[in-house]
Amino acid sequence: MSNKTWLITGTSTGFGKSLALFLAKKDDVNLVATARNTSKLDYLDEFNHGQILKSTLDVTNQQEIDSVVKQAQDTFGSIDILINNAGLGYFGTFEESNRAAVKYMFDVNVWGLVDMTRSVLPVMRQQKAGIIINFSSIGGLASFPTLSFYHGTKYAVEDISESLAQEVAGSNIKVMLIEPSGFRTDWQVVHQIKHCQK
Ligand SMILES: NC(=O)c1ccc[n+]([C@@H]2O[C@H](COP(=O)([O-])OP(=O)(O)OC[C@H]3O[C@@H](n4cnc5c(N)ncnc54)[C@H](OP(=O)(O)O)[C@@H]3O)[C@@H](O)[C@H]2O)c1
Repeated sequence: MSNKTWLITGTSTGFGKSLALFLAKKDDVNLVATARNTSKLDYLDEFNHGQILKSTLDVTNQQEIDSVVKQAQDTFGSIDILINNAGLGYFGTFEESNRAAVKYMFDVNVWGLVDMTRSVLPVMRQQKAGIIINFSSIGGLASFPTLSFYHGTKYAVEDISESLAQEVAGSNIKVMLIEPSGFRTDWQVVHQIKHCQK
């Protein structure tokens, strides 16, 4: 059986890093691990078996998206599974939230996921196969105070994914949602503010 190629966004920390570490140990996996700063992917160096590609990717940068999709195809010949994991959290009441920070969160959580998916879909359509796994959240199913805008991003991810799933089913492409509850990752407001000041 030929190797499957997995492309994951945001593998520097949290869920993305855990997934990359899990997949890096498998000998039937080609892994495209991405991060805005690839020096944060040094943890993969111990698995230097030629099936891991580390690539620079900010999901708000269309040029970097196009480049990573091309690199994945040139290196491994396919993209079988895309995991749209990169995402930010932002805590704040509706009235007090910083508009620029919230807008940036939508750029990453919604538009980053959309742009990644739109760039990978032609590859999957051509393959007549593929799986897209989108990170939503319990926050895409239920709403709590101080998270209105985060919920907005994850509800968008939910409904975009559910509609897309029906549009691509005929090409043997599946779209899945992951809806975690609370996990102790770097997902927090300090993280978000840091990105906005970048
Ligand atoms: N932790 C939870 O409780 C929880 C619950 C439900 C859903 N989620 C979702 O799970 C996903 C992963 O989050 P996490 O909990 O693992 O948090 P995390 O540890 O903060 O990881 C977030 C990842 O996204 C990356 N990222 C941020 N902005 C980016 C951008 N513009 N382009 C590319 N990558 C970017 C970060 O990379 P940098 O190192 O470059 O910042 C980091 O690798 C998110 O979609 C989050 O909404 C988390």
